[in-house]
Amino acid sequence: MENKKIVIASDHAGYDLKEKIKKYLAENGYEVTDCGTNSTDSCDYPEFANKLCLAIKDDPEMKGILICGTGIGMSMAANRHSHIRAALCHNEFTARLTRQHNNANVLCMGARTIGEELAFETMKVFLDTEFMGGKHERRINMF
Ligand code: RB5
Repeated sequence: MENKKIVIASDHAGYDLKEKIKKYLAENGYEVTDCGTNSTDSCDYPEFANKLCLAIKDDPEMKGILICGTGIGMSMAANRHSHIRAALCHNEFTARLTRQHNNANVLCMGARTIGEELAFETMKVFLDTEFMGGKHERRINMF
């Protein structure tokens, strides 16, 4: 059965997009946990990346979404956690491939680098695409 639990977090640069995505997910049957931030006041993205990574630590099926200005800082911080495979995606193609090949469990996006519509399409593909396993499983086990 599809896991409808999801965790989301952003820094100040990603706050507005996070709020919109959170609303969409809640309206579409997801149980959303918001790890902050809670305003557009300047803050430090690693704090929120770390909170999200800890929140999904005990459930290997759970996915997360991290948003900062570029998505780069969030992906760097998240990938310091050994249970995280965070992918910075800019479109549906990268979202599909990182699910199929990398079994990414965290989607990172840049609110300043991607339009809102594309961010939503990227997120939908990420959430709806399954890992292909096989040789790709062998490769991610080498991380
Ligand atoms: C904040 O200004 C910005 O540095 C942050 O949102 C992110 O883009 C870092 O990678």
